[in-house]
Amino acid sequence: MLNVLVTGGAGYIGSHTCVELINNGYNVISVDNYSNSAPQVIDRIKKITGKDMKSYCCDIRNKKDLEKIFSDNKIDVVIHFAGLKSVGESCKKPLLYFDNNIFGTIVLCEVMQKFNVKKLVFSSSATVYGDESLPPYVESMPTGKVTNPYGRTKYIVEEMLKDVFSSDNGWSITLLRYFNPVGAHESGLIGEDPKGIPNNLMPYVSQVAIGKLSKLTVFGGNYNTPDGTCIRDYIHVVDLARGHIKAIEKTMQNQGINIYNLGTSRGYSVLELIKAFEKATGKRISYETGSPREGDIAVVYANTDKAFCELGFKAQFDINKMCEDAWHWQSKNPTGYVIN
Ligand code: NAD
Ligand code: UD1
Repeated sequence: MLNVLVTGGAGYIGSHTCVELINNGYNVISVDNYSNSAPQVIDRIKKITGKDMKSYCCDIRNKKDLEKIFSDNKIDVVIHFAGLKSVGESCKKPLLYFDNNIFGTIVLCEVMQKFNVKKLVFSSSATVYGDESLPPYVESMPTGKVTNPYGRTKYIVEEMLKDVFSSDNGWSITLLRYFNPVGAHESGLIGEDPKGIPNNLMPYVSQVAIGKLSKLTVFGGNYNTPDGTCIRDYIHVVDLARGHIKAIEKTMQNQGINIYNLGTSRGYSVLELIKAFEKATGKRISYETGSPREGDIAVVYANTDKAFCELGFKAQFDINKMCEDAWHWQSKNPTGYVIN
């Protein structure tokens, strides 16, 4: 049985990936400092899978603690989710983002190197494509013309990991560029639980539906798209989690550095997503159109051929299921993991 260390295992994507890993026979060890999650998540993962997993409360920047975890467990491969992800916050606190996302990854790689664990899957983002190329985005397109510090941390870590591989071909590294993960596990036990007012569209829409927020502001109605609102490639978080199983298989098989988009290759506009949510849930979403959000790109969607051809990965769930499951989670957990 392979031992997978999951950094950020209690987070939104990490928790769903832990479930899929356990269901696929992997032994999971989570490392999370709970800065953007709650320890209760681990119990929910155990409840869904009916299996046990190890979890450590640890900041990955704390080398001593991380080394202890590596010496107490025989780790075969690492999936590295731990990081901060708010674009707005990264503009206000760039050093915090560089410290957490870049320095955190440096410490992790140093410890991996020390313990001769050289298999790594890293959470990158479609944001690395910036607005240099036109969609659909292909992995070989140029990257780096990012629009904010968060995006820059993803780009820098990608480049750093390429250099790590160049210096030592014994590494096997997979960079996954996520498009827009949404939805939740169909049990309604785990899902996205943003702190404060959500920055992202789907959690905002869900909180309007439950009455926590009064109305959505659609950021911009004059983009060069059929209905004037931005288009994104939304992918069900369980599909995304399953993409990690394929990525682990690839990472275990061959040495090298490989990059894959994880999306559906289908774009939906903001208004289409609102309609899909209303249809899936029977809830009305009040909204008004406001100004565009700085840094937003009109149309973003993936070319997913490489992930299909090389990983055999194809997303299964449609927009209806994404909305249904997002709502199921929100309505079962109106205050998220922590009960007010
Ligand atoms: P999340 O905030 O829900 O999960 C990240 C987890 O990492 C949290 O549980 C947090 O407590 C933990 N963490 C943060 N810094 C840590 C540290 N120094 N030490 C230990 N734990 C730490 O975010 P998510 O949506 O699950 O995203 C996971 C990864 O995927 C992130 O790296 C994010 O940048 C990337 N990503 C997310 C999206 C998205 O839309 N959600 C899109 C592209 C890429
Ligand atoms: C954003 C980040 C991206 C990050 C991802 C996950 C930017 C420019 N990009 O992606 O780097 O990886 O979140 O954290 O911030 N929208 C509204 N009203 C809202 C919220 C969103 O109209 O209240 C619109 C946005 O303008 C966008 C779409 O909904 O067109 C999706 O937005 P969001 O969920 O924030 O994702 P991205 O902007 O694609």
